[in-house]
Amino acid sequence: MIRADIIVDLQYGDCAKGKVAHHLCKKGKYTHVLRYNGGCNAGHTIYHEGKKFVTHHVPAGIFFGVPSIIGLGCVLDPEKFLLEIEMLEQGGVATEGKIFIARNAHVILPKHKGEDDPEGIIGTTKSGNGPAYRDKYARVGVRAFEVPELAPFLIDLYEVLHSGKDVSVLCEGAQGFGLDIDWGDYPYVTSSHCTSASALLNGIPWKSVRKVWGVAKIYETYVGHKEFEPKDPIFAKIREIGEEFGATTGRPRQCNWLNIDLLCKAVAVNGVTHVVLSKMDVLREVGRWKLYSKGVMQRFASEDRMKKYITERLKAYSIAPKNVFFSEHKDSI
Ligand code: IMP
Ligand code: MG
Repeated sequence: MIRADIIVDLQYGDCAKGKVAHHLCKKGKYTHVLRYNGGCNAGHTIYHEGKKFVTHHVPAGIFFGVPSIIGLGCVLDPEKFLLEIEMLEQGGVATEGKIFIARNAHVILPKHKGEDDPEGIIGTTKSGNGPAYRDKYARVGVRAFEVPELAPFLIDLYEVLHSGKDVSVLCEGAQGFGLDIDWGDYPYVTSSHCTSASALLNGIPWKSVRKVWGVAKIYETYVGHKEFEPKDPIFAKIREIGEEFGATTGRPRQCNWLNIDLLCKAVAVNGVTHVVLSKMDVLREVGRWKLYSKGVMQRFASEDRMKKYITERLKAYSIAPKNVFFSEHKDSI
């Protein structure tokens, strides 16, 4: 039997998917963790046993020795992937026999990087992600099984997930709803599907899904060339306190107040059952409790009032208050 939980980002990426995955894996109930979309454009910052790690391809299960799969919905840069394994090993994380790649995942080739947003219009991560997906869909791409260095890692996802044995899979997404190729603000999007449906495309049957963890921040951030940040010095303060600089590119992230309507839309489309809102301590330090609702900015007299408002809004999506979690920047949930 297959059982699956899905982690999906409800905003523009960087909402602590890695942290939530790390926390859920720590409970030790998963047989596999599966990254279901994206490439090395993603950057997951994970604090494990007091050390900071930034992963790009490998899902968070690896920190607990849970077999970690890069799914067929991903694109993979072989050189960066091998360097990432080296980095994990040097940091004391055992990877031998624990990291796998779906044999038909597509590969990012050196030429893809040069072709990635050369005019800088979208403000991509220049990791070759878009051109690799372009070639996949043009049916001229190269798949993992065609790259000899990747041979030791290859698996067939059907055989792993549908072997008849019990499997419990944590599906870990990359990027977020606001960057989804279809639901995001095109063309300021990434080239993959970032919704919970994207996990299913990797061979997870819909009837195996139990929980969908939607993760967001108590404010929003976005990296790219769309104008996103209102002109108010408060956002520079949020950026500093929240350490809002890209894990992959080091670029400063534009900041803005939470858009509760976008959050609710993402909750609805992704079939979210549990919500984690992170970085409460950042707004606490800034001392302002604000969000946009129906295009109008709302202020709250206290943290509790804002939490209550959010929790009430989420009830309309059958999310009980006990399934809404507020977390801090430095702590785990
Ligand atoms: P690409 O995915 O590199 O093609 O970039 C497309 C857009 O998605 C740009 O605005 C990037 O900054 C953004 N993006 C891609 N990956 C991530 C991520 O992991 N976190 C946040 N933004 C991302
Ligand atoms: Mg990130």
